[in-house]
Formats: sequence, C-alpha cells, structure tokens
Amino acid sequence: MEQLAEIAGSVGTPFYLYDGDLVRERIARLRAALGDAPHRICYAVKANDALALVRLARDEGLGADIVSGGELWKALAAGMPAERIVFSGAGKRRDEIRAALEADVGSINVESPGELDIVAEEARALGIVARVAARLNPDVEPGTHAYVATGHGTSKFGLAASQVLAEIRRAAADPALAPIGISFHVGSQLLDPEPVFAAAERAAEVWRELAAEGVELRDLDAGGGLGVPYRGGDDLDVEAYARRLARLAGELGATLVLEPGRYLVAPAGTFVTRVLYVKEVPGRRVAICDGGMNDLVRPALYDAFHPIALVGAEGRERGQVDVVGPVCETGDFLALGRELPLPEPGDLVAVGYAGAYGRVMASTYNARPLCAEVLAEGGRWRVIREAGTYEDLVRGESP
Ligand SMILES: Cc1ncc(COP(=O)(O)O)c(C=O)c1O
Repeated sequence: MEQLAEIAGSVGTPFYLYDGDLVRERIARLRAALGDAPHRICYAVKANDALALVRLARDEGLGADIVSGGELWKALAAGMPAERIVFSGAGKRRDEIRAALEADVGSINVESPGELDIVAEEARALGIVARVAARLNPDVEPGTHAYVATGHGTSKFGLAASQVLAEIRRAAADPALAPIGISFHVGSQLLDPEPVFAAAERAAEVWRELAAEGVELRDLDAGGGLGVPYRGGDDLDVEAYARRLARLAGELGATLVLEPGRYLVAPAGTFVTRVLYVKEVPGRRVAICDGGMNDLVRPALYDAFHPIALVGAEGRERGQVDVVGPVCETGDFLALGRELPLPEPGDLVAVGYAGAYGRVMASTYNARPLCAEVLAEGGRWRVIREAGTYEDLVRGESP
C-alpha cells in the first residue's frame, strides 16, 4: 500500500499496477499442476496485452493465444516466437490470416468453413503448408456470465461436431493444409470446471472418430476460462483441473494446450484511482474518483465485483459507499453499496483483481486519455506504458 502512494505520486492517477512476481507464481502453479504431461500453455493475450506481460510470459516459456492481427503484431513485438502462437477467434480477416501464415504461427484455429477456405487459399499463394486446428462448439452450458459464455450450441464460436469432422477431413485431403488439432473454449470466469471436462469428452469423441479414419492429430486445446475468486475465497482447484485434462489428453496421445488469460493475470493487477469528491445524495454516500468505466469497464459491463480498499484509511469510521467514476453515465461505477472506511477527497482507492480485461478494454470515452501501467517485480517498479496524452486523443483526426 505504501508503494501505491509512491507510484501515485510519481505517475499520477489513475493507473494499473501489476505484480509480475505473482504472475510468475501462477504460471509456476499451473505448470506444476500439469507435471510431466505433454503440454503447452499459451497465454491469452486478450486478457492483458501489455508488452511487458507478454514478454514475461515468453520468458517463462509460455506461448500466446491471439485473436487478431493486432495481437499477432504485439506478441511478435514482445518477442514471442511465432511457433508458440495459436491464432483463435471467430472473425479473422484475410489479411490477418495471411500475416499469421507469413509469420509461421504454430496453429490457426478455424471456426468457420469459409475461414478454412481462406487459410488454404493464402497458404497456396505463399507456397506453404498451414497448420490448422478446428474449434469445436461443444454445446455445453458453462454457467458463467452470458457475455463470456462461448461454448453453448447457439454461440457464434466454433463449429458443431459434424462440421469439425468435415473440416478436419477436408484439411487432411488438402496439400496446403496440415490438420493438427481440435480446440474448444467453453467460456470465461468458470469457477466450476465440469463444463470444460464435458467439452473435452466431446472433443475426444471427435478425435477418436478421426483417428479411426487414420487422421492423426497432435493438439487437444482446451482453451482458457479458469475463473478467479473476485469475491474472495479459494482459488479454483487448478491441480484437479489440470490432472483431469492431462489424463484425457494422455489417453488420446495428445499434447494438451491450455490458453489461460484471467487466471494468470487477474489477481496480479490493481487499478488505482483517487477520490475527487465525496457527497451525500438521498440514500447514498458517493465517492467520485478520477478513474471509472473508461479505465475499468467490467463493473459497468458485466456488473462485475472487484475487491476495493481505501489506502491508509484503516482506522476510520466505516459506512456504505458507492465508488463511482467521473464519466457522464449513471452506469459508471467501480463498486456500489460497499462497506468501507468513510472516504475523503485525496484518498487512493485500490481496486483489486483488475489485471485481466481491465486496461485492454479501456476507452477514451469523454476524451479521457488512457491511463498508465506499472509493473512491480522483485520489490522494484517501472512504468511499462505511459498514460495517454491529449495529442493521442486527436492522432489521425482532421478537424
Ligand atoms: C479461445 C479463447 N482462449 C482463451 C481465452 C481466455 O479466457 P480466460 O481469460 O477466461 O482464461 C478466451 C477468452 O475469451 C478465448 O476465447
């Protein structure tokens, strides 16, 4: 907490602070849980695409799961070896597919028959063989927020089992394509891994059918989705999760690929903002801060809960507080009805578990520049992305 005040004094508020040591610890825990089962862990860059964090993942031996040409560009800029990259996503453009093939990424995980056509055309044009996996829509209900559920039958993601069979067969027959795996991703913020296991069983059925036809695949990619305890309590039993998936992959003779994002970085991030004003409105005590939904949209978008602490206010009288941002939207809040020490103008507010889907989803709404990001490692901290400027707000614009 002392460090927060020091950083706030130096970089200003609001800002994101990431604990690199904690990210490494979580990587180590997941890796230990997988033991000597053949596996690859590809960090889901979408959770937090700060170059320094992608590089940290690379240095720890992880690969990257990307979903756009921009993420490809950033992963490569962070020094991620292309062969460790898997390219997921329901809406890849032709130029993004071409760039991924030119970079020679490890796998393109296709989600539509038309996408496989484009991968084949582009691979032929480049004179290369494209490694592809097909993303299965496993048709399971993940029991998470509707906006981050992806594995139910009617979602836009992936292919039905019959389509996966058809696309892998088609890829096996095309000299420009090398089918290497089946992927699936059930949804995000899963606190119960059962839907992942059910999806893995469905993927295994498809895998076995293909194997019986002589199609040899390599990767069983179970996606990401591991949840974190935003409301406190125990972390998900990552050991049991890894053991069960590794066992299934082992039965198939597959390499297990995991694409965790949130699990690795959410607990390692703190969003820090400063209280500007405190006012009483009928029935509410409102603390208006200098950071809000433009910096951290999860509460407004998903009604998400983040733990909140007021820095240096431990001994104060407590009461119910709504912690809100400065944006001209009633939905601009960080926490509502929270029991906290009574805030005062100038207080720093630390919003926990903000390392995933925080800064990556930030916007400049209300013409507020993007905030800075800071990485702390081994007791030291450094700015890894400077705050945006007013000039940034008009870059590329013509009056
Ligand atoms: C294909 C895929 N892999 C991995 C992830 C990462 O999910 P999480 O951050 O929940 O681990 C996502 C998130 O939506 C995804 O769509």
